[in-house]
Amino acid sequence: RADTKAILLEINKAAAQYFYVQLLRPQGGHALTYLKDRKLSDDTIKAFGLGYSNKYSDDLYKYLKSKGYKDDMISQAGLISIDEKYGVHDKFWNRVMFPIMDVNSRVIGFGGRVMGDAKPKYLNSPETIIFDKSRNLYGLNRARKSRKPYFLLCEGYMDVISLHQAGFTNAVASLGTALTPGHAALIKRYVNEVYLTYDSDEAGTKAALRAGPILREVGITAKIIRMEPYKDPDEFIKNLGAEAFEERIQKARNGFMFSLEILERDYDMTSPEGRTDFMKEAARKLTEFDEEIERNNYIDAVAGAYHVGSEDLKKLVGRMAVQTG
Ligand code: CTP
Ligand code: MN
Ligand code: MN
Ligand code: MN
Ligand code: MN
Repeated sequence: RADTKAILLEINKAAAQYFYVQLLRPQGGHALTYLKDRKLSDDTIKAFGLGYSNKYSDDLYKYLKSKGYKDDMISQAGLISIDEKYGVHDKFWNRVMFPIMDVNSRVIGFGGRVMGDAKPKYLNSPETIIFDKSRNLYGLNRARKSRKPYFLLCEGYMDVISLHQAGFTNAVASLGTALTPGHAALIKRYVNEVYLTYDSDEAGTKAALRAGPILREVGITAKIIRMEPYKDPDEFIKNLGAEAFEERIQKARNGFMFSLEILERDYDMTSPEGRTDFMKEAARKLTEFDEEIERNNYIDAVAGAYHVGSEDLKKLVGRMAVQTG
């Protein structure tokens, strides 16, 4: 099994090199144009080892076979499908390739993006004995070398790459999955603070709200950066640039206060009844802070933000704590 792992890593590395070479050949021209249109520089493309999987259905397979790898291993690496009727074919076809590296820069899988509107937009390697999506973060091999005391945690490959290119070399992304406790533990080895910069859509907002508590659980402080009016960090940087992004970092909101802002949407904040019901729910959420000092700090912050007396809110939180047990 240890041997198998080593072989799978070798195969992935060979595939990444192959995809990179394909990108720079004439037949990869449209893929290179696609990446250039997305404003990636040659240095960035090289640093992230981006590539192209061509239109031949078994080109990578033949290449890996020519290097002496066995069907079983290539299949275990998730790079081919073996179909009884149609034979062997490459998993990735006519896509821009993003090698996914582990913290030691070993290629453990791939994400492949279509250049048009076909579905799925991204196709990813399956989980294998070397690729556990819930224990790896895209960009971590580079972000760990950043000197910043926090990570920027975003959603996608392109977000990480754009941020690094703009100088934010502390950006990482979970791999198209929700943040897991495994990710949080991994992050905690490097930093105690995370700035969540998820997409500004409903899915991204929800994901940010869910990620906060998972990070807290391992002792990481989470702050939230909003990307409005843009969809995600990649688009934000392209439109407003690095300085504007830096300003958003400075203005990042505390995860808990952000969750209250989202909660406001469920109440009629213009009526006294609505505001009261909102404060009750806020108080209930405040009971979830086990640490008294922390809870009191948040009570002060909430009281200040919503113009209610700290002592009144503290009493309300006390009553809520009794009610919810
Ligand atoms: N993702 C995925 N499979 C999909 C869609 C998304 O694995 N079908 C993952 C990818 O890692 C992607 C991330 O989820 O980067 C975020 O998805 P999304 O916001 O839809 O894509 P973007 O990263 O914004 O992609 P792009 O800018 O290339 O359109
Ligand atoms: Mn191919
Ligand atoms: Mn998204
Ligand atoms: Mn995007
Ligand atoms: Mn996005």
